[in-house]
Amino acid sequence: MTQMPNARSSIARSPGRTRGVKIAGTGSALPSKIITNADLERLMDTSDEWIVQRTGIRQRHVIDPSKGESMGSLAASALITALNDARMRPEELDFIIIATMTSHMACPPTACQIAFDVGQRMGGAVHCGAMDLSGACSGFVYGMNIAHDLIMGGAYRSVALVGADTISELMDYATSGRTTAIIFGDAAGAAIFRATDDPNLGILAQTMRSDGSGWKEIYVPRDEHDFPAKVAPEPEKIGRVQMNGASVFKFAVGTFPEIIQETLDAAKLKPDDIDVYVCHQSNQRILHAARDRFGLAPDKLYVNIDRVGNTVAASVPLCLDELRRAGRVKDGSRVMFVAFGGGLTWGTSLWQL
Ligand code: UT7
Repeated sequence: MTQMPNARSSIARSPGRTRGVKIAGTGSALPSKIITNADLERLMDTSDEWIVQRTGIRQRHVIDPSKGESMGSLAASALITALNDARMRPEELDFIIIATMTSHMACPPTACQIAFDVGQRMGGAVHCGAMDLSGACSGFVYGMNIAHDLIMGGAYRSVALVGADTISELMDYATSGRTTAIIFGDAAGAAIFRATDDPNLGILAQTMRSDGSGWKEIYVPRDEHDFPAKVAPEPEKIGRVQMNGASVFKFAVGTFPEIIQETLDAAKLKPDDIDVYVCHQSNQRILHAARDRFGLAPDKLYVNIDRVGNTVAASVPLCLDELRRAGRVKDGSRVMFVAFGGGLTWGTSLWQL
């Protein structure tokens, strides 16, 4: 990926700050239904061996709408778990952001519905600011930087961020194509960010980038006018994810190490100074390439793609929640969050917890 003319290098934290931000709680939710590679073998021309070798994925979870599962229900469950983990009431939140590309309706913002739902389920009214963030697979990492800086600006003390996607709704296993259908799964993850008087806690460096010329690498056409030039519109592709997997793969293999290095440089840190790298789970080969490039020990770069697939905006917070629950990410940890995805978009968020 060539450097954008107006791209600033990663931004380091401002010196002399008087407050910090901590991650006070996390939560996640996975739908009950599991699709294994063996299930996919029955639906399309593929094999467990190919999928495991080329992606590392063995299974993915998908919603079952007949059981009332939806992006909103997963998001609300993840947020409730995160609030309980932070020992907070929903009324204490100043702002809720939902990063998603699978909102059910264009209006209202999903975040308002989640706020209402969580308030009802926890017995309280939530009237804080609420908005959706459309950042595809980068949505949660973008959201971490935004939530942090909302708090650092001084006007907000508690911000909830949810990454939730049910991309199975944008997929038809019979027609979506075997390259696309095998990698994605549904999930939600949430984190609560709170102001702290300790100025050492929070983001050490961050990056947010985009390249709109790459929009056609991953898109969901709404009608026949949305197909790129030279691509014949096909009715069965409307409303379904279209992805040029090989091209995204090439972009990701180059971009991951590039932005990790830039972010380390901005924070004046070395690869080994980071306790854990929490990267968007796009393909195990992309993750291993980044790990090998920096010579990281296997336990420094978390991988859960084998169990859940690529869960879009939920991928990073799901990893974060699993790592916190396992005690591998805790107070005092230094954690690098990295993601890339549709847009094209990519970003990092390097935290001192
Ligand atoms: O979340 C952010 C967005 N997405 C991504 O990060 C995805 C990034 N891309 C990838 O992970 C990989 O490109 C894929 C897993 C999607 C595809 O893997 P690949 O190694 O890039 O496969 P390819 O498209 O280059 O295809 C290689 C071969 C082709 O066969 P021929 O033409 O060499 O005979 C494909 O037809 O593999 C074939 N193939 C499959 N075979 C069995 C593609 N998909 C499958 C499949 N099962 N599911």
